[in-house]
Amino acid sequence: MNAPFHARAGLRDPFTAFVCDEATADMLRPVAVEHGWSPEKVNKGGLRNAVQSLSVSASPNILFVDLSESADPLNDINALAEVCEPGTIVIAAGQVNDVRLYRDLVASGIHDYLLKPFTVDQLRDTFAHAQSILSGPRGETQVDKPHVMTAVIGVRGGVGASTLATSLAWLLGEKAHRTTALLDLDVHFGTGALALDLEPGRGLTDAIENPSRIDGLFIERAMVRANERLSVLSAEAPINQPLMTDGTAYFQLQEEMKNAFESTVLDLPRHMLIQYPHLVHDAHVAVVVSELTLASTRDTIRILAWLKSNAPQTKVIVVSNRVPSGGALEISKKDFEQSIERNIDIMFPDEAKAAAQAAKLGKPMAEIATGKLAAPFATLSNMVLSHASEDGGAAETKGNASGRSLVDNLKSMLAKPKPAQAA
Ligand SMILES: Nc1ncnc2c1ncn2[C@@H]1O[C@H](COP(=O)(O)OP(=O)(O)O)[C@@H](O)[C@H]1O
Ligand SMILES: [Mg+2]
Repeated sequence: MNAPFHARAGLRDPFTAFVCDEATADMLRPVAVEHGWSPEKVNKGGLRNAVQSLSVSASPNILFVDLSESADPLNDINALAEVCEPGTIVIAAGQVNDVRLYRDLVASGIHDYLLKPFTVDQLRDTFAHAQSILSGPRGETQVDKPHVMTAVIGVRGGVGASTLATSLAWLLGEKAHRTTALLDLDVHFGTGALALDLEPGRGLTDAIENPSRIDGLFIERAMVRANERLSVLSAEAPINQPLMTDGTAYFQLQEEMKNAFESTVLDLPRHMLIQYPHLVHDAHVAVVVSELTLASTRDTIRILAWLKSNAPQTKVIVVSNRVPSGGALEISKKDFEQSIERNIDIMFPDEAKAAAQAAKLGKPMAEIATGKLAAPFATLSNMVLSHASEDGGAAETKGNASGRSLVDNLKSMLAKPKPAQAA
């Protein structure tokens, strides 16, 4: 239901609604008229009537269904999906305020869910967004390029996760010609905007404080454009009080970005995983950024295990960043790989000069990378795209073949006598 199907658009009614109560009908009719739709297309009788009616007639471009009288909205929506032709944009309304229901509805193809009572403006916004999908170039490009969502997770602070997230987002825009959103979820201290020499604006903070406002138009207004194909949502939220959120805003932002862009890169601080595990559910790829240090090894093990149990469908790319060239390693590549029980996929050399230059110019490191620093960046964006295009395969992490726990392995490695540390 969520994939616009342009070829048929001309044969369909532009709009039909099935509502449960007179108040909703009264609100819908004038808004329908504003859009040039017949007010008579606002029918009484909620979801059940919608299913009956669509089983014997062509589906409209935009379908509004009221779920208020539905005892099992998700099940009923699936029944609707069976009679609804592809390309119909379905907007649902209901009284159940539950993120999980919202998630499930969106996953089953619903374009938007309006919580009753909603305002006329919310209704207008959702219709405007539905129309922009039907008519806009975005809908078409989306069909060509399925959305790719990548979460970049630093196993520790300072390993360069934000540097790589910004670079990956830039590469997906510049080299892979995908419209890309960079969502910086370090809400207080994020560097997504700073790294690109942009002002973060209040968009992300507003979204978190007011998740009901998040929709396509909101995204359009709130995101800061870095270039033709790269937009950023980042914040410098005030640090004098905590931001209260149950994570709804983050989920809705992801959903809207899926609609509006061809790829999304999440700069995902590790503590956010603990608080909002659902943030990675829809990510095709997780880029786990580490360094060759003992602390990084321990946390890579833990984060890989976490991903395996919380997002088994997400493909994992393990990156080692800031690898010193002189061989002054805290832990060797071999020991690191043995401990994490898989190979490192990509190594980025420690390039203080390039990092400093990127910061000074306000450009992503990938943009100024040349020579041996350019290659791993190209590998990163290629791997992300190829992982994302593989259908549903198993997660990339290798099984625990030895039968020992991951942490056991680390422990035994740490127990090895280390001359440098001898008392
Ligand atoms: N490959 C690299 N070589 C040298 N410095 C790097 C490299 N990658 C990142 N840096 C620098 O490391 C610092 C921390 O990077 P950042 O991306 O903010 O880390 P994180 O988001 O993981 O906390 C920044 O000053 C950045 O320029
Ligand atoms: Mg960071």
